[in-house]
Amino acid sequence: MVNLLLLVSLPLKINLISFPFLTYASSCNGPCRTLDDCAGQLICINGKCNDDPDIGTHICSGGSPPTRGSCKSSGTLKCKGKSYPQYKCSPPVTSSTRAHLTLNDFSEGGDGGGGSECDDQYRSNSERIVALSTGWFNQGSRCLKMIRITAKKGKSVTAKVVDECDSVNGCDAEHAGQPPCKNNIVDGSSAVWDALGLDKNQGVANVTWSMA
Ligand SMILES: *[C@@H]1O[C@H](CO)[C@@H](O)[C@H](O)[C@H]1NC(C)=O
Repeated sequence: MVNLLLLVSLPLKINLISFPFLTYASSCNGPCRTLDDCAGQLICINGKCNDDPDIGTHICSGGSPPTRGSCKSSGTLKCKGKSYPQYKCSPPVTSSTRAHLTLNDFSEGGDGGGGSECDDQYRSNSERIVALSTGWFNQGSRCLKMIRITAKKGKSVTAKVVDECDSVNGCDAEHAGQPPCKNNIVDGSSAVWDALGLDKNQGVANVTWSMA
C-alpha cells in the first residue's frame, strides 16, 4: 500500500518541481506553458505571459500599440448576400497559438470538392487530421507534419496537417459553397474532437496548437 502511494504521487511531485508556476496564474512576462497559466486576458507566447495580439490589449506593453500580429484582411468576398473578410495571413505561430477548432469532413463527398491540398487524398475521419487556415498552412510548409492541439480543459492530441482551410477563396463548388475560412482555424476531423473529449455539436472550440 505504501509502495503504491509512492508510485502514484511521484509523477505529481516531478510536475510540481518542473512547473511550479502552474499552481497560480502568471502576470506579464511570467512563465507559462498554455494560456490557462496566464492571468486575465493574457496569453502564453514563447513561455511568457503577454498581451494577446488578436485582442489588441496593451496590458504588458504599458500602453504602446502591439508590434506583433498585425494580420489584416486582404479583401472581402460576397457569399449569398453576405460579405466575408479574406485573409492571406494568420496570427503568428508561437509555442501556444490560440485557435478555433472546427469540424471538417475529410472523406470523399465531404466538405471540400477535391482531395486534401497536401496530397490530393481523401481520408477517413477516424484519422487524427486537420486543415489549417491559409496563413498557417503557409503554402504547404506544414503538410504531413504533426501538430499538438490542446483544449481548454488541458487534454491534448497530436494530429497530421493534410489540408488548407482556405481563408481567401470560397463560396464556390470547390469549397462546397462555404465562405472563406477565418484566419485562426484548426479544422479537425471527428477523431480530433473525440480525442480532446469535445462535443462536436458545439461546432467551434477554443484551443491552442504548436508544432509537435
Ligand atoms: C472562446 O474564448 C472567448 C474568450 O477568449 C470566449 O468569448 C468564447 O465564448 C469562447 N468560445 C467557446 C466556444 O468557448
